[in-house]
Amino acid sequence: MNWLLKSAQFQVLSLLPGGTRFYNYTQEHITRSTVASFQRVAQKVQVGLDFWNWLRRENQIEQLTGGRLLDLGAGWHPSIPLLWYAFGNDQQTLVDVFPNMDASKVRDTFKFFHTLANDSQWAGREFVKRLPEACDPSVTGVAALLAPLGMEYHAPYHDLLPKRPGQYDIVICTQVLQHIPKPVQVAIFRELYACLKPGGLFHATIHFVGQFRSPNVRPGQYEHLRYSPETWEKWINSSLMSFNRLKGPDYQETLAQAGFRLREFKLTAASEADRAELKRIRVHPCFSRYSELDLAARGVSFVAEKP
Ligand SMILES: C[S@@+](CC[C@H](N)C(=O)[O-])C[C@H]1O[C@@H](n2cnc3c(N)ncnc32)[C@H](O)[C@@H]1O
Repeated sequence: MNWLLKSAQFQVLSLLPGGTRFYNYTQEHITRSTVASFQRVAQKVQVGLDFWNWLRRENQIEQLTGGRLLDLGAGWHPSIPLLWYAFGNDQQTLVDVFPNMDASKVRDTFKFFHTLANDSQWAGREFVKRLPEACDPSVTGVAALLAPLGMEYHAPYHDLLPKRPGQYDIVICTQVLQHIPKPVQVAIFRELYACLKPGGLFHATIHFVGQFRSPNVRPGQYEHLRYSPETWEKWINSSLMSFNRLKGPDYQETLAQAGFRLREFKLTAASEADRAELKRIRVHPCFSRYSELDLAARGVSFVAEKP
């Protein structure tokens, strides 16, 4: 579907009573975009493995295996938390503004994770210390299913983080920050900074392209650069779905404002074809402060440290 039609749908649904519930129903039963699948779990686990490999290169894996971890915006499937459990971690806090996980999604994620971890070709296999037991079918709550693995689930999480200053070793946040406007982001980064221990790490991955569409569909991925902030806020974003259109330099600024020191900042490079596509877009002057490299980047993965 055309992405503008999709954003218009979100606008209409966000105004209708019951619109959010209808949208959730559609995601679950029609587009099935929130249902766990082997491919979804494997793809997310790979994001975790990339970070694991970074920690190995930096000789910091004990910070993950023995530390206290926070997954901010945990979403629908605990794929990365299961990876950390399998690698030996016993203390994880999963938080989200919405209670997107349910028992059946958690069970399915366990099942697909088992299949992946038992695949002799899987790149993470050599680091697996244990696998989670099959879920007890009589347990129906997400928190109760995750508790035996040393995981807490809080959704929504209200003022949980300010009550845990200096308690976390690592914060992980995958594909969440592109939805959060810059001023709110600064506040969240400060909160994360406060709840990390000195030397604690904050790792995030963020898509920059494909707003209101899949970031994997290349044609049209830079369309969002055409619009002024006013048009974007009034006609495209809605309370049901919004994207901030921030780029690499914005994240570098907000992280520095919160006190973080960057250890790694890796833009997902644009291909020749991506750059040719960007050239065809009439980029709005509000993006003039960015370099072509920043505008073309398809996303970023960073690791920041609390000094
Ligand atoms: C695209 S999903 C990503 C989920 C998961 N991290 C993953 O990679 O599969 C974004 C998630 O972030 C959550 N979210 C949005 N704003 C948030 C916030 N301020 N704090 C915590 N979670 C948030 C949403 O409810 C949603 O579950």
